Amino acid sequence: MPSPRQASPELQQAMNECREQVNRTLDNLLAVEDWAEASLFEAMRYGVLNGGKRLRPFLVVQGAKIFGVDEYRARRVGAAVELLHSYSLIHDDLPAMDNADMRRGKASLHKKYDEAAAILAGDALLTMTFEILSDRETHEDPRVRVELVKELASAAGGHGMVGGQMLDLIGEREEFDIGTISRLQRLKTGKLIMFCCEAGAILGKANPAHRQALRNYAHDLGMAFQLTDDLLDIEGSTEEIGKDVGQDERAGKATFVSAMGIEAAKMRAEMLCAQARAHLKIFDGGRGDILKELTNYVLARRV
Ligand code: IPE
Ligand code: IPE
Ligand code: MG
Ligand code: MG
Ligand code: MG
Repeated sequence: MPSPRQASPELQQAMNECREQVNRTLDNLLAVEDWAEASLFEAMRYGVLNGGKRLRPFLVVQGAKIFGVDEYRARRVGAAVELLHSYSLIHDDLPAMDNADMRRGKASLHKKYDEAAAILAGDALLTMTFEILSDRETHEDPRVRVELVKELASAAGGHGMVGGQMLDLIGEREEFDIGTISRLQRLKTGKLIMFCCEAGAILGKANPAHRQALRNYAHDLGMAFQLTDDLLDIEGSTEEIGKDVGQDERAGKATFVSAMGIEAAKMRAEMLCAQARAHLKIFDGGRGDILKELTNYVLARRV
């Protein structure tokens, strides 16, 4: 019997299939032609089509599936979020931020090209995200499109991911208590993951209770996901995670691991995942099973 902490083969297969399909969608969205500014698009492709796990699109697709949403639409929204996520990683690696040389097993974008290319590729990916969400092809109902745009803008902006990134940098110089670390993680990573799950509910015009259940699930999953990212920075290898290890300690980052130690951080991740699974009880007929199972992947992941 597989250990309950291992992701099942069914989940692995579903994630692999989703990743391949999302990669094809991203490849099409990032087409490049013989323009004078083609190097911008080459840099964008380099920063996106480079082996990410595509967890966020998987969350959109699986959340949407609960409400019977057409998968093509969900995949488009998932791909749009992945463009935004890739922008955040490109900028996160810049010398002014985490100064990281490696990303997804390759040279980070500013190392491969230069800083201007990394800034501009990130800017273009961020704006392209909203171009896709607001396109009719994403959903025929303009209210759905506006809601997607509004919710993602709020999850990714100053009161979301960007605010969290600022806190993350301040935390290198200032002592944070657990409450502030928790807020930092919720903003920098949690909010985008919450949007992903909520997007499925928006696309499927879900009732408020179902939408809230998915938000609650994603909140706990997102916190656990950033915890395992922080743990992998200590316990993982560069080969596994495709980025340099030990970066957080070198930079003096404020994480749950730095604040409470490895064992307590692992217990916290377990607790968050158990809580995440409990939020899915509202979905009958096994509709929440894949998302439930995903908590095991988050706990066991080595990448
Ligand atoms: C890395 O995200 C940054 C965090 C918010 C933890 P992922 O671990 O999802 O990175 P990719 O997309 O698979 O490279
Ligand atoms: C980044 O967190 C979160 C973002 C919003 C980009 P980290 O700085 O821990 O991500 P990695 O470890 O570089 O992927
Ligand atoms: Mg960072
Ligand atoms: Mg970083
Ligand atoms: Mg990290």
